[in-house]
Amino acid sequence: MNATPQPTSISDPIPQLDLAAQFSAISGEIRAAIERVVASQQFVLGREGAALEEEIAKFCEVSHGVGLASGTDALILALRSCGVRPGDEVLLPPFTFVATGSAVSALGAKPVFADIRSLSSTFTVSPRTWIQSSSLRARVSYP
Ligand SMILES: Cc1ncc(COP(=O)(O)O)c(C=O)c1O
Repeated sequence: MNATPQPTSISDPIPQLDLAAQFSAISGEIRAAIERVVASQQFVLGREGAALEEEIAKFCEVSHGVGLASGTDALILALRSCGVRPGDEVLLPPFTFVATGSAVSALGAKPVFADIRSLSSTFTVSPRTWIQSSSLRARVSYP
């Protein structure tokens, strides 16, 4: 079975995100990991959690990886570690997932959306915007 949505004509929009295609490429690995977790009954931390943290640390070429409950939690933790407090401004690109902004709001800070580089480039906040934003009270900037 192919769950991947297929465009039916040239005018159909191209999906921005295709999680089904991503899953189908690694479904065997994911199903085996879920089976190991269920069999061990260790749903929080445990051997699988430690193995994931080790794998992520190795992939990122850093000494430690920390598993969290969600991507949103990771963003909140990163912002907290940068000292973001209520009332601070955080510069971020609008071309992102909603959690990028909601993590800022969750800390009582203010998301400030900045222009990104052209679509043919990196989709990240442009250097010009960084310079122009120097007048903002931004404590942190996402690239
Ligand atoms: C770029 C980005 N940031 C944050 C998140 C939030 O992750 P979660 O849904 O695990 O909180 C997502 C989720 O898709 C994401 O794509």
